[in-house]
Amino acid sequence: MIQIAKPMIEKEEILHVQKIMNSGMIASGKTVLDFEKKFAEYMEVNYAIATSSGTTALHAAVIAAAIQPGDKVITTPFTFAATANSLLFEKAVPVFADIDPNTFNIDPSSVEQILKNNSDIKALLIVHLFGLPCNMDKLMELTKKYNLLLIEDCAQSHGAKYNNQTVGSFGIASTYSFYPTKNMTTGEGGMLLTNNKSLYKKVQAIINHGQQERYIHTQLGYNFRMTNIAAAIGLEQLKKLNTFNAKRIKNAKYYSENIKNDVITLPTVPKNCKHVYHQYTIKVKNREKFINHLEKHGIGFGIYYPIPLNAQPYYTQLGYNPLETPIAMKISNEVVSIPVHPALSKEDIQKVAEVINHYE
Ligand SMILES: Cc1ncc(COP(=O)(O)O)c(C=O)c1O
Repeated sequence: MIQIAKPMIEKEEILHVQKIMNSGMIASGKTVLDFEKKFAEYMEVNYAIATSSGTTALHAAVIAAAIQPGDKVITTPFTFAATANSLLFEKAVPVFADIDPNTFNIDPSSVEQILKNNSDIKALLIVHLFGLPCNMDKLMELTKKYNLLLIEDCAQSHGAKYNNQTVGSFGIASTYSFYPTKNMTTGEGGMLLTNNKSLYKKVQAIINHGQQERYIHTQLGYNFRMTNIAAAIGLEQLKKLNTFNAKRIKNAKYYSENIKNDVITLPTVPKNCKHVYHQYTIKVKNREKFINHLEKHGIGFGIYYPIPLNAQPYYTQLGYNPLETPIAMKISNEVVSIPVHPALSKEDIQKVAEVINHYE
């Protein structure tokens, strides 16, 4: 079976974790600070704060950006639930824009339509889905024109670039996930990046029970801290991120050059984007039949995402209607992600392409 995802945990990660375990300093401490510093440097952003997950990083970003109960925030329905849930945690109101059917990212023209019809939108929460940057030229134009805060969910886009600028450096804050399927992992973990010093200070307090100083609680906060154990894994993974991404890009290139089947649509990559292929996602009309074919030949796959957020039971109970984003609805019935991770061998990649080429 060729798996859809596999974390690359090697001797460097194991040795570093062992060192931390032997030191006894296993909670949040110096190793976390070191990981934050190196991650900020890599992403070319001033400040980084490590968190317990991508979800807690998003939640902290929403609080620190002062998004209040009732505030409307435009986001995408074609993402993992954590993106929009982070708004619901604070009783803010997600407003779903539709997506581009080729890039799967939020469609700036749909965002603009919403902005023209609503004068009370406070922020834009975007996702660089599957490792591909959003259309930042258009989106930055809109954030300026309509005076919106921008938060970037980079859970799937470690190291992706738009016009040579690292994603995660466009908004007031950006968030990362280090879940084991991601481009780099810490087991569970996340990171928040910002260039804004006062937001950085706020987030430091939010993730640590509102403490600016020990046992002085100046605001409501949480325990969203990362452990030194996770940070030790992260430090070793960060050293390998370029190699991991290069392997993903190489695997994707092989698919794009060698998959030739009229019923399959391959991913689209706009010229000014560096795609880091968290997923290699293709479109196929009769998906059930196609995934049976993959299963029969031992090829793992993923459906990201089978149901847009505004069609999820919890969201429809809140009054959301997926018919408002028809493209997200249509695309959720057509997408299939195939294995592209760095642990795949040349033979694996060749087999995946061959099996897809023989599908009819
Ligand atoms: C787009 C997106 N946002 C947020 C998250 C949440 O990250 P985590 O699972 O680390 O909480 C994920 C990951 O699963 C994700 O893919």
